[in-house]
Amino acid sequence: MPRPRTSCASWTRSSQMPLLGRSSQCSTRAIPSGTQPDSPFAWTPGKSLKDEDVLQHLPVGTTATFYFRDLGAQISWVTVFLTEYTGPLVIYLMFYFRVPFIYAPKYDFTTSKHWVVHLACMCHSFHYMKRLLETLFVHRFSHGTMPLRNIFKNCTYYWGFAAWMAYYINHPLYTPPSEFYGEQQIRLALIIFLFCQIGNFSIHIALRNLRPPGSKTRKIPYPTKNPFTWIFLLVSCPNYTYELGSWLGFTVMTQCLPVAFFTMVGFIQMTVWAKGKHRSYLKEFRDYPPLRSPILPFVL
Ligand SMILES: NC(=O)c1ccc[n+]([C@@H]2O[C@H](COP(=O)([O-])OP(=O)(O)OC[C@H]3O[C@@H](n4cnc5c(N)ncnc54)[C@H](OP(=O)(O)O)[C@@H]3O)[C@@H](O)[C@H]2O)c1
Repeated sequence: MPRPRTSCASWTRSSQMPLLGRSSQCSTRAIPSGTQPDSPFAWTPGKSLKDEDVLQHLPVGTTATFYFRDLGAQISWVTVFLTEYTGPLVIYLMFYFRVPFIYAPKYDFTTSKHWVVHLACMCHSFHYMKRLLETLFVHRFSHGTMPLRNIFKNCTYYWGFAAWMAYYINHPLYTPPSEFYGEQQIRLALIIFLFCQIGNFSIHIALRNLRPPGSKTRKIPYPTKNPFTWIFLLVSCPNYTYELGSWLGFTVMTQCLPVAFFTMVGFIQMTVWAKGKHRSYLKEFRDYPPLRSPILPFVL
């Protein structure tokens, strides 16, 4: 088979050819030999190539033109997650220890008299420690990088909410759940929180086991021997379902409005992602289990 003759063109207006290694979006389209498009901007781009595509195996005939799109500065996916999650962990602890310049000076380095405040700090720290460890040792991501600007957006979201929640929960005037049913409420909330944390972790392990090391394969997840994964019978993205449950538990435990707001915003965001993932499962796998909903069984 003759090797395809290749020429390259930039997809953007930049006159400089972007480096191949910086861009994961590359488009090919076979064109008759000797012809060039009048304007690359009026041209409909062809199929985007995957990182692992090999030039010699592309069905482009003898001539191919590559269009490169400069995606701008990129940052590793893992770095993004580590930065996103370290922030809330540290920020929350600063409020918990009441470092100076947050509350009135007389409260500097004092501790709360309510046990739920200490419990909330343990739960919050546990949650973000878990996420950091999962990012390092559990998840097998298929994406290498994301645009640098995303890190500012994502960090504003996570760090901002952490500061807002921590400010109120650790405030010297914080009011814990009521005297009468407060203790039961906190205990129930802790059970919900821990149950959902174990569930979320179990799903992450199940997803990891779907993908052999170093590969990017995507398969249909099914329930395993672990009962926490049986929810796969009814839901496409149960890790999001458990994540929602954890934050609902934390809301009930702290009875704090900013936490409820964070739970709601997170739920909306995860619902949008879950619907997208559910749609792509249905598109990719003809035998996808029909009973499943994106995030909430039978509801959503
Ligand atoms: N509180 C909040 O606002 C909030 C929002 C979002 C996420 N989170 C938390 O962060 C966690 C991770 O979020 P995420 O959006 O990255 O979750 P995700 O899309 O479900 O991905 C988790 C990991 O599993 C892999 N994976 C997913 N489906 C797979 C399949 N069918 N086959 C093989 N591998 C598969 C993913 O690889 P890919 O790289 O290919 O996707 C990724 O490495 C969530 O479970 C949740 O606990 C919290």
